[in-house]
Amino acid sequence: MSKNIRNLSARKGLDDNLFEQLPDNGGADGDNYRNVASKFLIGNANTYGTASFYDFLNPENSGKKGFYCAGSACLLAGTQDVVKSELEAQFGADAVGPVYCLGRCYENRAFHVDGKNYSGAEADALPSICRHEKSQHPTPYRVQHQGRGILTGHALSLEECLRLLPVWLQRPPETLLDGLRVSGLRGRGGAGFPMAIKLDTVRKEQADQKYIVCNADEGDPGAFSDRYILEEQPHLLMAGMALAGLMAGATEGVVYIRAEYPESITIARRVAEQFNNLFPLDTHDGTPFSFRLKVVKAQGAYICGEETALLNSIEGNRPEVRTRPPFPAQYGLYGKPTAVNNVETLANLPFIAQEGGEAFKSLGTAKSSGTKLLSLDSHFRNPGLYEVDMGTPLSFAVYELGGGFKEPVKALHIGGPLGGLVPISRINDLTLDFESFASNGFLLGHASILSVPERFPLIKYLEHLFEFTAHESCGKCFPCRIGSVRGKELLKKAYESDYRIDRELLNDLLDTLEKGSLCALGGGIPLPVKNALKYFESELQPYFKN
Ligand SMILES: Cc1cc2nc3c(=O)[nH]c(=O)nc-3n(C[C@H](O)[C@H](O)[C@H](O)COP(=O)(O)O)c2cc1C
Ligand code: SF4
Repeated sequence: MSKNIRNLSARKGLDDNLFEQLPDNGGADGDNYRNVASKFLIGNANTYGTASFYDFLNPENSGKKGFYCAGSACLLAGTQDVVKSELEAQFGADAVGPVYCLGRCYENRAFHVDGKNYSGAEADALPSICRHEKSQHPTPYRVQHQGRGILTGHALSLEECLRLLPVWLQRPPETLLDGLRVSGLRGRGGAGFPMAIKLDTVRKEQADQKYIVCNADEGDPGAFSDRYILEEQPHLLMAGMALAGLMAGATEGVVYIRAEYPESITIARRVAEQFNNLFPLDTHDGTPFSFRLKVVKAQGAYICGEETALLNSIEGNRPEVRTRPPFPAQYGLYGKPTAVNNVETLANLPFIAQEGGEAFKSLGTAKSSGTKLLSLDSHFRNPGLYEVDMGTPLSFAVYELGGGFKEPVKALHIGGPLGGLVPISRINDLTLDFESFASNGFLLGHASILSVPERFPLIKYLEHLFEFTAHESCGKCFPCRIGSVRGKELLKKAYESDYRIDRELLNDLLDTLEKGSLCALGGGIPLPVKNALKYFESELQPYFKN
């Protein structure tokens, strides 16, 4: 079925794509769904089934006017009960709903009204913002680099792209690819896959069309590093995508940006339009190279950060995770070879093209080269975004850059909801690179750093993680679809009543999730739970049967 929809959707191409035409409500007698369905020659149930998957297209949410951030950072900061009740006072309870992370984790109190995000001191003006009496400007957050500022240093401009791209594109794609190979750049979106291998695979595939897709769905609560690049360094990203296109033989690129980042979408659209006008440019053998970028606004589904769900989403398919193989590099967007890469990964390419692979490799560790962006939440004395060399001690990031904590903290949740829960006692054991985290039983992931304060009950935080997974599960495989709900129920019951959890039952559930889930959403959620059970046994013990 999804293959049929893929083919039907592909006939109209990216510009007239099905996803961007999905309606946010059915209209009179479901006419809105029916009209789109008939245009694409698909069933009414497909347009409804797909649209209703997304938070922002689900007809149940179409009347909502205000959204409070229910992401992990805002939850741990304890600011959202007030924000929620103030929104409800303005719009009424039925018109207010949760949204998972607006990327304002450095100051919290985040909410979304009329297509705009607000946080921190702006929340003081919530009533007047809701009544359109006041326009607010977000407070700037700290951005700092320790060592080379590849991503947070000088912001590449359009004029510089105009000057530098023709020089870079004069190099044969194989030479650029060799430089990338030497650099050792690995994906920053979580899995750390070598980028050169991915681009080389796409390059070697035979196809009439290939794509570069930028994964800007930064859904991990706690992370705001991709948002920073999209808003403050958009040319770096787009030049990186064009370079990736030349190396892989792709002439079209898509930046898929989460709807929860409206400002990022506006900026990226404006810059993409200007950027597209730079082409065509001559390559080394005189053939012109054109690269066309399109920005696609997502519609609120964490699972669309998983690369195959993301591709299904752009196609207008229900964004369920695909089984692999085939991998996107062979069979990706509309069934064509596609490199899906994270924002931060792609934004490193201009540096490698300009300074060479060796220069990149000289930073960081042998296996984790380059720099890494860190997002530090509001519990730090100096919250904000930091760029550090890979291999930097975690303790340096926490105590020197972050300045330590504003209140006693017992654990750090690093790398998003599927990342490990690092007890404070283990901070000195870790360095910020893929190997150190993996060998110590944690996950570097996207390197967002959330602080779990002493005062916050861990059982409640674990329940929140299961609740998040249950809300965001694509539903394709049962361990995740059912297991996440069961996990949430167990923890909630234990926290709110005298029910006590059977440890063997929970262990079985975690094992089933880990071994039986198709993707890392269901497969990854046991990691922080197991960390918590290991390092915080005495705090959690009262919730378990003897
Ligand atoms: C549940 C889930 C959510 C994900 N979310 C993101 C995301 O928001 N951004 C991202 O770049 N990668 C995300 N990933 C990883 C992508 O599937 C993919 O590995 C990545 O985009 C590849 O890019 P990279 O090699 O540059 O890291 C997610 C994976 C899973 C399983
Ligand atoms: S683990 Fe969850 S999100 Fe991933 S494929 Fe299975 S149901 Fe979907």
